[in-house]
Amino acid sequence: DPSGTGYAHAKAILLGEHAVVYGTPALAVPVHGLGVEARVWPAPEGVHVDSELFAGDASTAPGLVRPVVTALSAALDLVGLGHGAKVRILSSLPHERGLGSSAAVAAAVARAVAGLAGVELGPDALYKVVQEAERHSHGNPSGLDARAVVADTPIRFQRGRVAPVPVGTTTTFVLADSGMAGSTARSVAGVRERLEADPSAVERTFARIADLVEEGARQLAHGDLAALGTALSEDHRLLAWLGVSNEVLDRLVAAATAAGSAGAKLTGGGQGGCVIALADSEDHADELATALRGAGAARTWTTTVPAA
Ligand code: MEV
Repeated sequence: DPSGTGYAHAKAILLGEHAVVYGTPALAVPVHGLGVEARVWPAPEGVHVDSELFAGDASTAPGLVRPVVTALSAALDLVGLGHGAKVRILSSLPHERGLGSSAAVAAAVARAVAGLAGVELGPDALYKVVQEAERHSHGNPSGLDARAVVADTPIRFQRGRVAPVPVGTTTTFVLADSGMAGSTARSVAGVRERLEADPSAVERTFARIADLVEEGARQLAHGDLAALGTALSEDHRLLAWLGVSNEVLDRLVAAATAAGSAGAKLTGGGQGGCVIALADSEDHADELATALRGAGAARTWTTTVPAA
């Protein structure tokens, strides 16, 4: 049988989540060891999904699987392939942990459909499909995740546009999973309520986050990891003030800095999900990972961004 395959990796937001929904910039890095692979076969009609979360007819799939179906139909439409398909998803990426799982699934599916049709989707066509799927999983996505899961380098993102960010020195991060699912839709809605209740204070916070993003891009380019760490930790405090942290995330951030991290923060939607901590070296990353697991992290991953 003819089939198409596609892949997309995880992402971690270094600085700027939440404020980015309101048009400020953000920085994200690819997480190459974690990702989603999709395989798509044509079928006369209906969509059949085969994944860890759900296997069966797509019309009976739970909410978490709906982005798959949206991405699949949008991509089939785009390449002019009609509507039936069978899709198999293999993911090493945990769901609802702020690592871009929903966007990565949609991007992998879209690429698999393009492969099946023998065409290549350009970045903007791919972005459109992933954003359509993302709107189904959380109401008002900035587009950051959709761009980050298909970018091979760190990116600066603002209002749908991306630019690669230069990296002055190889930079290693540890990601620690709180073990708690975090609903991006819910945390984004929480920030909106906060903004409506106290617009001037929240806007000042967004403006400070935007400054941290610009400073962070320069620090990354100059390899100034001490300053970058300070920016991460300040961003965490601002996100906590916005209401998207919790005790577990705060404890993991404290454990990382106690173990010598230059800075750490929650990453992604928050209220669960992951923390990202800056390491001095790969050896230090091992120490941080041990400390984070000791402080209750369900698991950790180390990701390295090469100088470029
Ligand atoms: C989620 O990974 C990032 C948020 O900023 C939401 C978004 O950008 O759409 C929290």
